[in-house]
Amino acid sequence: MCIAAAAVLLQLVFVCLANALVQPAIDTDLLLQLRRQLHNNPELAFQEHETSALVRETLDALNIGYRHPVAGTGVVAELGSGHPVVVLRGDMDALPLDELSGEAFSSRNPGKMHACGHDGHTSMLLAAAKALKSVEGELQGTVRLLFQPAEEGGGGAAVMIAQGALEGAAAVFGMHVNPAAPTGTIHAKAGPTFAASDRFRISIQGVGGHAGMPHKTHDAVVAAAMAVVALQPLVSREVNPVQGGVVTVSRINTGEGAANIVPERVQLSGTIRAFSAEVFEQLRERVTAVVTNTAAMYRCNASIEWSPVPYPPLVTDAKMTALALAAAAKVVGLGNAVEISEPFMYAEDFAFLAAKVPAAFIMLGILNESAGSVHGLHTPQFRLDEAALPLGAALHVRFALDFLAATANIAALSRDEL
Ligand SMILES: *[C@@H]1O[C@H](CO)[C@@H](O)[C@H](O)[C@H]1NC(C)=O
Ligand SMILES: *[C@@H]1O[C@H](CO)[C@@H](O)[C@H](O)[C@H]1NC(C)=O
Repeated sequence: MCIAAAAVLLQLVFVCLANALVQPAIDTDLLLQLRRQLHNNPELAFQEHETSALVRETLDALNIGYRHPVAGTGVVAELGSGHPVVVLRGDMDALPLDELSGEAFSSRNPGKMHACGHDGHTSMLLAAAKALKSVEGELQGTVRLLFQPAEEGGGGAAVMIAQGALEGAAAVFGMHVNPAAPTGTIHAKAGPTFAASDRFRISIQGVGGHAGMPHKTHDAVVAAAMAVVALQPLVSREVNPVQGGVVTVSRINTGEGAANIVPERVQLSGTIRAFSAEVFEQLRERVTAVVTNTAAMYRCNASIEWSPVPYPPLVTDAKMTALALAAAAKVVGLGNAVEISEPFMYAEDFAFLAAKVPAAFIMLGILNESAGSVHGLHTPQFRLDEAALPLGAALHVRFALDFLAATANIAALSRDEL
């Protein structure tokens, strides 16, 4: 079985080396101009109206056909024709954050920032579209491009799937910029890659009052503080340590009242993460029970809301990952395309796509001190080393061409065998 799988892999890699089209050039000027324009005008989940308009204008200028609206602001473009259909995905939304990067083209929208690199993801996919257009006549199938809304919590990928974005698809490919690895490197993992994730919002209701008269109150601040502590043993004492999980309370909000007032209500929010469905359910149940009972212990009431769209774990396909790494090696060199073995507790709604169609997901290194690209994702200082973007765009193109060539070749091989 292993040997058979390895043989298929070798065959895949071999045939795509032998038969794929020559790499068309990436228009770096267009790519960087689009990226900066998007960075300057970040829009939040499902509100990517101007982003979507820029995507469509660019596709119009390139004479590439598309479907819109898909999932509101989403756009599904296609090049080539017939089967197989290989899907490339780029997400478009920004984060609710005030930008402090100091870039000349920083966000002009207060409270919104492209701090997760989706401006890069969208512009790389557009640059890939231009390159693929130049070889459209020779494509051995269809390349479908998904410009997706609402990766950051809205589950835009799931909505696009519901509206037909994966119909007939044989493979799906996605990427994310990665400030943990240097520009010029690409990492990918086969199998479980990112965790399943859900978010909670807890409201603890007590009885407020004068801070000097605590005995007349049911103090929601104390109940909330105890609840945060009471949640800690869930991972250390209840989850199987070999499987692992995360419970993080990331926000505590007691309102803006004066320091001599015990507030009536405290809000907590945070996230749970796990790879196994069993641990995920266990955490969801136990967070609810622990918070409810802790609040009751301090004479308060708790209510808890979970996200309407929890994200499944991102599980990639071994063969697609091998194909992506082989494609990446052609873009950044063999030693810089690295297969990793450890999964991450990040979450990514590409998981919805990967659950439907064999998928590869790569992490594009952007760490570069001289470009100031050293800050983490989701931080207000985040900067993206633009030198990485043409590599990502080239990899989109390479993956699509190699997948189509490999599939055409295998089809030819099996015809020969008949
Ligand atoms: C908690 O809920 C119960 C039942 O709804 C209610 O009687 C009580 O007043 C609530 N207590 C607080 C502190 O909100
Ligand atoms: C890092 O950034 C500098 C400055 O922008 C750039 O000249 C250099 O090419 C980048 N490094 C890599 C490996 O691309």
